[in-house]
Amino acid sequence: MKLGFVGTGALSSAIVTGLKSLPGETTPVVISPRNEAIAADLAARFPDVRIAADNQAVLDQSDTVMLAVRPQIAREVLRELRFRPDHHVVSLIATISRGEIAALVAPATQVTKALPMPMIARLQGATIICPPDPIVTAFFGRLGGVIEVEDQDEFDALSVVTATYASYFKYLDTIHAWVRSQGVSSDKARAYIASIYKALANAPDTAPDEDFMHLSQDYATRGGINEQVLRELSERGTFDAFAESLGRVHKRIAGE
Ligand SMILES: NC(=O)c1ccc[n+]([C@@H]2O[C@H](COP(=O)([O-])OP(=O)(O)OC[C@H]3O[C@@H](n4cnc5c(N)ncnc54)[C@H](OP(=O)(O)O)[C@@H]3O)[C@@H](O)[C@H]2O)c1
Repeated sequence: MKLGFVGTGALSSAIVTGLKSLPGETTPVVISPRNEAIAADLAARFPDVRIAADNQAVLDQSDTVMLAVRPQIAREVLRELRFRPDHHVVSLIATISRGEIAALVAPATQVTKALPMPMIARLQGATIICPPDPIVTAFFGRLGGVIEVEDQDEFDALSVVTATYASYFKYLDTIHAWVRSQGVSSDKARAYIASIYKALANAPDTAPDEDFMHLSQDYATRGGINEQVLRELSERGTFDAFAESLGRVHKRIAGE
């Protein structure tokens, strides 16, 4: 594979960093010159990474091209480029459909949508890909895993998961702020919360047959303090409001 990136920003940097952390990894990578500082940093860190003169040079020197510019400028950038029929195009642009990308990159016909996350730099967090493709699956499979989906609807629904990170940390921050308000030092509270939630994050792997509601019930001992918090939040409609918010995000992602 000769890998190219059009758009060298946060996500491209994370993918290249993850890729090049693999032992014995020598895939040649060519990146577009913007962002200048990120491109220079990647080229300095990894001997197989070169900065192309412009976006077209990225295409001319690669067979697999990852599109990683922001959606607002993507159409304008892609219209100026000449793709080859044999290019495999992997679009990381979250909010533009595969169909629209395919029209913009013709005569290339092999077009895959992928949704990696920045944690890929540390080989963590699965990448959603659509439609299933053995080369793209093999590539992202080594960088934290892959969830293959058949169609855009499934892709859009799974994408909604990625809208929940900030709320997750706000949840932890709420616990942290409350514990601190009781006079516990910030460092101690943070260390304890981080340690416990890291352990909880392992539960789906250690009990692979249990769904999330069962895991919740495992901790919600009748009459216990976990049951109390779960019940009080449920009665106030916290989780219903959360689910409604996911629905609104889905509408936005799916362009409804
Ligand atoms: N970050 C995420 O967590 C994430 C997750 C999933 C999907 N995505 C998708 O990945 C894409 C990239 O996201 P990102 O977070 O990496 O954004 P980003 O950090 O803003 O990177 C985009 C890069 O494109 C460069 N650029 C601007 N104009 C260009 C042009 N004409 N030709 C080539 N490059 C150009 C920008 O350079 P300058 O800085 O010089 O303007 C910038 O470094 C987006 O479409 C986003 O939807 C991101």
